[in-house]
Amino acid sequence: MTTSTKSDNQVDARSASSSVPGKHNILFVDDEPNILNALKRLFRTQSQYECHFADGPAAALALLIDTHVKVVVCDHRMPQMEGAEFLARLKKKRPDTVCIMLTGQANLKDVETAVNEGSLFKFVLKPWDDNELKSLVASALEKYEANKGKKNLATAVKETENKLQQENEELLKTNDERTEQLISALETAQQANSKLHCTLHEIAKAFCVVLELARPDIGVHSNRVAKTVNQLCEIANMSFQDRREAEIAALLHDIGQIGLPRYIIEKSRDCLNDNERLAYETHPAACYENLKSINGFDRIAAFIFAHHERYNGTGFPRKLKAGDISTQSYLIGIADEYDHLMQRVTSDPTLLFEQTYDAISNMSDTLFPRSVVDSMLAIMDRNRSEGLEEEVKEVSLNDLAPGDVLARNIYTVSGTMLLAVDTMLDHRKLLRLRSIDKVDAILGTMRIRKRETTNTHHCDSSS
Ligand SMILES: [Fe+2]
Ligand SMILES: [Fe+2]
Repeated sequence: MTTSTKSDNQVDARSASSSVPGKHNILFVDDEPNILNALKRLFRTQSQYECHFADGPAAALALLIDTHVKVVVCDHRMPQMEGAEFLARLKKKRPDTVCIMLTGQANLKDVETAVNEGSLFKFVLKPWDDNELKSLVASALEKYEANKGKKNLATAVKETENKLQQENEELLKTNDERTEQLISALETAQQANSKLHCTLHEIAKAFCVVLELARPDIGVHSNRVAKTVNQLCEIANMSFQDRREAEIAALLHDIGQIGLPRYIIEKSRDCLNDNERLAYETHPAACYENLKSINGFDRIAAFIFAHHERYNGTGFPRKLKAGDISTQSYLIGIADEYDHLMQRVTSDPTLLFEQTYDAISNMSDTLFPRSVVDSMLAIMDRNRSEGLEEEVKEVSLNDLAPGDVLARNIYTVSGTMLLAVDTMLDHRKLLRLRSIDKVDAILGTMRIRKRETTNTHHCDSSS
């Protein structure tokens, strides 16, 4: 404890700029030496405090520069400046300091203002009660510590928030970079995939050209099925890659029939005996086994493997059902059924079309899912509205021209099928027909449906 016996504006403390470790700095400010002496006596026994005594506001403010005072007890009525003004200055320097004011009854109005402004913790009327004043100083110290705790907590929370925000920003930045890398890798993979599908499509088309030469019936049927599958994919709004894979699978779906005796393929499926049926039903697996190990053909091979599986489990070879069959396999399957139904020999194309329409309708939820059947019927509706009646002309070999579509198969006198119905002629096919005709004459006249402009399909991965 320090005593104040010095002149005005002086501080009486062991050291104005020093704090004793483990003790709390308390400052008493009063211009009356008697009051200060009384306060010294009162707090002499309070060893937890390091008491400082100033005989006026100026000395007190000077002490506050170097000393961390926790509680100030000051007089209100002082000659240099009033207690309220002193507190205002004190709060600017040490906003955390808790203040108690000693005042007479006559100054209560001023003190009340200070309390309301929040700069004053409590006021004590002179003459004070010693115990009450000691108790108030203890409470003021508790308030100081509590405020300090809250402030420290708020600081810690703020620091944690800042740290979390910083970590979050770094994480987002890292995520953005990784996302960009992933998008870039994905785009590269998609481009590579598109190129691969383009290449596969070109391979499949080239294979079909060869197939048309070796087995015109299978080749032309495959081309027609692929055309219908393409339309079905368009209605199903499939992605480019799914559509391309389905089309490739359609082009190759019956290559497993190449090894089968021709008479089995030419027979109606309903007329096959048990052994013939067993042989016929090997063709999806035969194709699958040959294609599955070729790089890029695994999914396509799987679509082909299931192109005769049916929704109700009556298909072959594995008797798959419903959801076990891919959409692509269903599309190939229904296009295949449609093509076989429409190729039946008839003298009444309109009746054939309507019978086929009814047959396809009856496949809904039995052989194929309703959505697949509805898509097929939509294509047939479109074909019907475009006109069933096609003009068929009978022409000689020399009259054939690029763009003509055959209305029936072309055979040689030795019985070899050269081109199948629905084949669209081009220069290459015409040249071949005329060359073969010289060594194995073509039988009869040609029947053509209409003349189409020969389309060249370019592989455009962006489409
Ligand atoms: Fe087939
Ligand atoms: Fe087929």
